[in-house]
Formats: sequence, structure tokens, C-alpha cells
Amino acid sequence: MFKAVLFDLDGVITDTANYHFLAWEKLARRIGIVIDRTFNEQLKGVSREESLRRILKYGGLETTFTTDEFAQMAADKNKNYVEMIQAVSPQDVYPGILSLLKALRRHDIKIALASASKNGPFLLEKMALTQYFDAIADPAKVAESKPAPDIFLAAAAGVNVAIQETIGIEDAAAGIAAIKAAHALPIGVGDADILGADIAIVSNTRELTLDFLTEVWENNINI
Ligand code: BG6
Ligand code: MG
Repeated sequence: MFKAVLFDLDGVITDTANYHFLAWEKLARRIGIVIDRTFNEQLKGVSREESLRRILKYGGLETTFTTDEFAQMAADKNKNYVEMIQAVSPQDVYPGILSLLKALRRHDIKIALASASKNGPFLLEKMALTQYFDAIADPAKVAESKPAPDIFLAAAAGVNVAIQETIGIEDAAAGIAAIKAAHALPIGVGDADILGADIAIVSNTRELTLDFLTEVWENNINI
């Protein structure tokens, strides 16, 4: 049986993936780049700085800005994003997530956060979920961001569980790649077209029950 579940946050626990998109869209528009939700799939799970690099490249502006201007744009996006998430509340937790967290605790299965977002701890507070988490991996302290395995390895280490005994839950292609690279067992939230047909996927977080996770674990992914 698995001993820990490593959760992504944005797009898994709540709908903040949408706010990230809206904040990047606004920033990009300011410099004349139009991004859409298809392109946004390439930003999901990716760090703030790498997201901006990808947007500039997409718009052909990768050599246009100084280091200071780049840092200012990243800061502006975050300021706008942070404004958007002020109103996040426990009502914004995706369906099924709270009951899964409670079930995991009842069964003494550890819970860790493996989010690339530096706003993760703030959001857990806003949603009144901090108490359920045994560890929050700090994205500022890992060498490489998703799709590298680092943040999932740090999350498993944070709860003292071997990575092979964990399940990782993700909505981003970069995140699923990170879980696979770490050798945890992935469960995707979203679409097989984007996340891959070789892993367990739910289309709605409501399906993320302890029974479902157990079934995926016992069948070792390939359902
Ligand atoms: C990830 C999001 O969880 O966190 C990305 O999927 C985001 O869209 C990344 O860029 C970093 O977040 P933040 O809040 O530190 O800018
Ligand atoms: Mg995500």
C-alpha cells in the first residue's frame, strides 16, 4: 500500500490554474503577445520565470528585454495573480479533495504538497487546508523545476517516505513527467490527450477517492 500522496496544488486542489493563465494573458498582452489556453498547457506546472521565458519565446521577444525588465514583468504577473487569489476560500477547494485528505489522515497515509508555486502555503491557508499537510516542499529550494523530479522527491523526503511508496497527483504534463522521473505513481487530473494515455486519469477530482487511489496502486497504474 502507498504511504504518502504528493499533491500538486494549482489545478488539482483548486482552480488557481485559471488565475495563473489570466495573469499571464494580461502581462503578455501588455507587451503585444497573445496567448490562448492551448499555449497555456505549456505553462502549467512550470515555474514563474520559465513561464515568462516561454511566453517571450512564443512571441519572438526572447532577446528584447533586460534582466531587470524580465524580473519586473515576473513580479508584475505575480502581483496581479496575488490580487486575484485574495478571495480564495474553503469553498474553492475542488470537489472530493477535502474528503480525500480526511480519508488519507484516517488511514495514516502522509500528505505532502509538491507545488511549483511560491504562493502554495498562502493558498492552503486561504482554503483552511494547512492542517492536513504533513509537509510542504519549498520550490525555492529545489534545483530544477518540473518536469524535473526534484519537487516530488523533496515532498516525499519531507514526510520520510520512499518515493516508490508514493502517489503523485497532477494536472500538468510537466508535472506528470516529474512524477514519472521521480518514480512515484502518477494520477492525472484532466485529459489523456494532454497527460498521456499510459497513466490513470480522472476528469473530475470527485473521482479521487481513497478507493480509487488504492485500485490504481494495486493495479500499478495501467488502467
Ligand atoms: C505552478 C503553476 O503550480 O506554479 C504554474 O501550475 C506557476 O502556472 C507555478 O507558474 C509557479 O507559481 P508562482 O505562484 O510561484 O508564480
Ligand atoms: Mg497544476
